[in-house]
Amino acid sequence: MSKIISGFSKLSKQEKIDWLSKNYFANQPEITNTLQQYWNADKELQALHDDFIENTISNFYLPYGVAPNFVINGRDYAIPMVVEESSVVAAASKVAKFWSTRGGFKATVLSTTKIGQVHFIYKGKKEDLHAYFNQQKEHLLAATASITKNMEKRGGGILDLVLVDKTDKLEHYYQLHVTFETVDSMGANFINSCLETIAKAFRTPDIEIVMSILSNYVPNCLVRAEVSCPIKDLGGENPREFAEKFKQAVQIAEIEPYRAVTHNKGIMNGIDAVVLATGNDFRAIEAGAHAYATKSGSYSSLTHCQISDDQFKFWIEIPLALGTVGGLTSLHPMAKLSLDMLQKPSAKELMQIIATAGLAQNYAALNALTTSGIQQGHMKMHLMNILNQLGATADEKEEMLAYFKDKTVTHSAVVDRFNDLRN
Ligand code: MEV
Repeated sequence: MSKIISGFSKLSKQEKIDWLSKNYFANQPEITNTLQQYWNADKELQALHDDFIENTISNFYLPYGVAPNFVINGRDYAIPMVVEESSVVAAASKVAKFWSTRGGFKATVLSTTKIGQVHFIYKGKKEDLHAYFNQQKEHLLAATASITKNMEKRGGGILDLVLVDKTDKLEHYYQLHVTFETVDSMGANFINSCLETIAKAFRTPDIEIVMSILSNYVPNCLVRAEVSCPIKDLGGENPREFAEKFKQAVQIAEIEPYRAVTHNKGIMNGIDAVVLATGNDFRAIEAGAHAYATKSGSYSSLTHCQISDDQFKFWIEIPLALGTVGGLTSLHPMAKLSLDMLQKPSAKELMQIIATAGLAQNYAALNALTTSGIQQGHMKMHLMNILNQLGATADEKEEMLAYFKDKTVTHSAVVDRFNDLRN
């Protein structure tokens, strides 16, 4: 029987669950209980979350953790992270503490502009289009005045508007390429509203608008974060060997796309976790970061490493279009709390904090990969998860950790050893 339904969105929450239960969970009547278990007892708070999207039937929890001890540009931070991967927060915390005694992280915003485009088709004479654009340009900008007024008061607005001829790539295809400054807001709504207004004012019977939309490629909304110290301060038995191997690992990611994707994925473990915690758009951040990673023509590392004059330097350069006002940042109570934890940063400060989280995560991954390997840390967290499931006491956990220090952690091995211990 077909399961296609009309008017699903008009059903009440319970009706939606009943329909799902009947059609997709026929043998699992307990789904209602599971879904209801995650409803918030505070009805107002639940209603707020219900309204973020359509067809909300419950909430999906992710852990909200904190990585303390970050020092960025001389200022101390505890960084909120929303992530399900067990080792991410522990790794960030460890690296933050390590670098806090070596000068901390230094971060600089290199640029803050964003791009939006009106894509259109024009089949007439090029000179006529250029003449029309030049004659209309001021009028197009003026048409957005009611939208840009507030943004201009905050120091932002439209910075540039140019006509781009793309007909060599696609027949009759042109763009209005618009540069924006959106200050502390991510600016997606602002940019898209401006673009649609410009498109409406620009359209003629000969100019066929295809679409108007911001670009999530933001190579000029760029931040750099770095750490550096004398090689001898890196610690360990042989700091120079460590530094050289670490640099090799970065160089491999710079030239080998298979490695670069995983390397950058590790960076995004840190970046996305803070982006989520602060109510920002992690899909936009991901898309922009990976596009930037291909700017040389081949997918490459977002971090870089240099060793010179006995000095170790490790840095990231990444585009981050973020907001600290508007959108979910003020609507979601936890996003607001995260921004408060970060001392109410401007968008520029948040760019610095988030780039730092990415760099720290990459440092942790490369540190582990080039020394003990990644599994040791992961397995410890895996072991703790299993022990928590088994209801182990603190003493039992300690004993089990010691026992598995030099053994492979598998679920059955942990259960067997745990049973032995209890018996
Ligand atoms: C796992 O989530 C991330 C790593 O694979 C990153 C890396 O390999 O650099 C550990």
